[in-house]
Amino acid sequence: MKVKVAVLGATGMVGQKFVQLLENHPWFKISALAASERRVGKIYGNEVTWLVSANMPKCVRDIEMVPMDPKYVDADIVFSALPSDVAKEVEPKFSEAGFVVASNASAYRMVDDVPLVIPEVNSEHLSLIEVQKKNRGWDGFIVTNPNCTTIMLVLTLKPLMELGLKSVRVASMQALSGAGYPGVPSMAIMDNVIPYISGEEDKVEKEPLKILGKFDGNKVIPAPITVSASCHRVAVVDGHTEAVWVDFYKDVEVEEVAKAFENMKSLNLPSSPEKVIVVRMEKDRPQPRLDRNEGNGMSVVVGRIRKDAWGIKYIVTGHNTVRGAAGASILNAELMIKEKII
Ligand SMILES: NC(=O)c1ccc[n+]([C@@H]2O[C@H](COP(=O)([O-])OP(=O)(O)OC[C@H]3O[C@@H](n4cnc5c(N)ncnc54)[C@H](OP(=O)(O)O)[C@@H]3O)[C@@H](O)[C@H]2O)c1
Repeated sequence: MKVKVAVLGATGMVGQKFVQLLENHPWFKISALAASERRVGKIYGNEVTWLVSANMPKCVRDIEMVPMDPKYVDADIVFSALPSDVAKEVEPKFSEAGFVVASNASAYRMVDDVPLVIPEVNSEHLSLIEVQKKNRGWDGFIVTNPNCTTIMLVLTLKPLMELGLKSVRVASMQALSGAGYPGVPSMAIMDNVIPYISGEEDKVEKEPLKILGKFDGNKVIPAPITVSASCHRVAVVDGHTEAVWVDFYKDVEVEEVAKAFENMKSLNLPSSPEKVIVVRMEKDRPQPRLDRNEGNGMSVVVGRIRKDAWGIKYIVTGHNTVRGAAGASILNAELMIKEKII
């Protein structure tokens, strides 16, 4: 029997991606869609400006949206695609009421007893769930996935940790769907690059240290690396691209980095891609339009690995609403089922 799942914020950019990815999921079945007050009682199919695929899945078209309240939600797992300020209020109500909350929002990512997880990178951090339940006396719990730009970056940093990674500089070129719907006004972004995304650089600089840190049985000790980020919004619909510069405690060659990327292990979960990191040798790859759907949007694509005066530099591209958001939460939930946490 499939596990019942609900989506909080199902009308938004990430919420729609959840709905699309859950349509034919082998383990999960959508049992409720929760909405903001103005949409409660309305029919999903009539309300949503559907943007993520050609057709809205039939299984959700006639669903009546329920309030953001555990009393009205019949599910075992809730996927949260809420803005952070709303998530801060709503998510604990669900975990207190016994739900598993798999969240995309930033509200609880950096809280000490909340796991911030990318399954291929730090699945052992899920042990924080027990610490969280004990601290708070909750029956349920919150597990978060990182910011979209952080996820692409950290998937590539994990294999570099073993080569003696010391510091990271990253310049992002972030897609419009990352700003939600309706997002950035077209008159602001067409023919333009906006060199500021509120709160983004702080997340990209801090989250990797927690994800790559060591769980000591009670808390996560941050990884001893430094990250500097410059984040930019560009006129691309889906797919974040990042230029990354890394330096190491020892001399590292391009071939070693490429091999470390190639050897990154995928997990045997329903949403796992065959290859977590796809390395492309062409001079002009990766590109968001060509590479964002690699591995059904769950792989990241790396190219242009070069050596410079400080260390190594490369480009990474990934799908921000799939690997960077809804797909990330779903993969976390699949991992928790496989590990028998749910
Ligand atoms: N977009 C990405 O690539 C991405 C990547 C990683 C993480 N995230 C995070 O995921 C979350 C959702 O992002 P998004 O891009 O999907 O945003 P979005 O398109 O603006 O969608 C926001 C959703 O939250 C609902 N909502 C807004 N205010 C609410 C309120 N007061 N009460 C209840 N529901 C409310 C909206 O419902 P209505 O339609 O009824 O207003 C909508 O369903 C954010 O925390 C974001 O930071 C996004």
